[in-house]
Amino acid sequence: MNQALDTFLWETHWHLACHRSELLAHGDFLRLTILDREVVVFNDHGEIIAFDNRCPHRGARIYLENHGNQAATCAYHGWTFNRGQFFIPGQEHFKGCDLNRVDFRRWQTEWVADFLFVGVAPNQAIEDQLGDVQPILEDISFGVMGRHDWNAYDFQCDWKIAIENALEPYHVDLVHPHSLGVLDLQAGQNDFHGKNSIWYAPLGNAKMANKLARISEFFSLDFQYKGYASIYIYPFTMLSSTFGYSYSLQHFLPSSLPNKTHFYSRLLTMALKPGRSPELMNSLFASTAETNRRVFEEDHQICQRVPADTWSPEPPRYASDTEAKLLHFRASCREALQQMINTSSTATSELP
Ligand code: FES
Ligand SMILES: [Fe+2]
Repeated sequence: MNQALDTFLWETHWHLACHRSELLAHGDFLRLTILDREVVVFNDHGEIIAFDNRCPHRGARIYLENHGNQAATCAYHGWTFNRGQFFIPGQEHFKGCDLNRVDFRRWQTEWVADFLFVGVAPNQAIEDQLGDVQPILEDISFGVMGRHDWNAYDFQCDWKIAIENALEPYHVDLVHPHSLGVLDLQAGQNDFHGKNSIWYAPLGNAKMANKLARISEFFSLDFQYKGYASIYIYPFTMLSSTFGYSYSLQHFLPSSLPNKTHFYSRLLTMALKPGRSPELMNSLFASTAETNRRVFEEDHQICQRVPADTWSPEPPRYASDTEAKLLHFRASCREALQQMINTSSTATSELP
């Protein structure tokens, strides 16, 4: 059931892939692995497209790196995608083949201001999926200057275990005593927007809060929560920040194995006010990236203790009020499972 749910979620939802600043130049690309697919988002002379990282000739991977700038040329026989079409060496040898039809397997793209979303066959419009989270994402996207840090490795656990861990602060004191725990996050408030949720938590560490508040004058932010904000975009994505000077974008993508999650994190840093040198904040961004990496590794260590078969879409028997977002996640998964069952029974009833 779980693998079927993972595939259903991947195929029926929009997924935040990147910020516009990550694909500014022709040839810029970024690759994410999900299930048995590699999704590439690519700048083709200013047009941003999303495609399966497999050559339409005989399936060789186009990109072996997770990000960079490189022509979309297949290393096997040289097929090259450029300005929306393929250039094929030795065309005269493909007698009887309609080479005009050659293309990548493409996926849909949508912009939410400067955030790029991709979808296979989303079952709702992006504004319906995001609800009231959309204007917040738009405001955040306008302020992003670029990517400061990139981190990718596999968590040895199911993605739902990793997401649920990211959705509850109950573990912070024990798992992150010297990293995230230093902020002394308070109970705060959960906002629910469809299947998405946001946790706003004030900092209990007043010294740290005052220090961070003083930096505010360097930035002009369309959206700022003066505390810790963690935005969950159902199903696979988190965007979190302390005071909004940078955002940690995290993906917990399902793999085709039950105890493995493709984890990606990036630090998106916000633009400073005109006249302020970006170098001013380099040490802040570097230390944020370092702390985040530590937090993720601590999360990974604890998550790999939790076997995949402990997960169920039903609420856990014992749940604290600090686990409200986890309960909401499970309710969303139950709803998705029901949709999945309805879709497959409709498809079956349509068989001749
Ligand atoms: S597999 Fe890519 S050109 Fe042949
Ligand atoms: Fe954590």
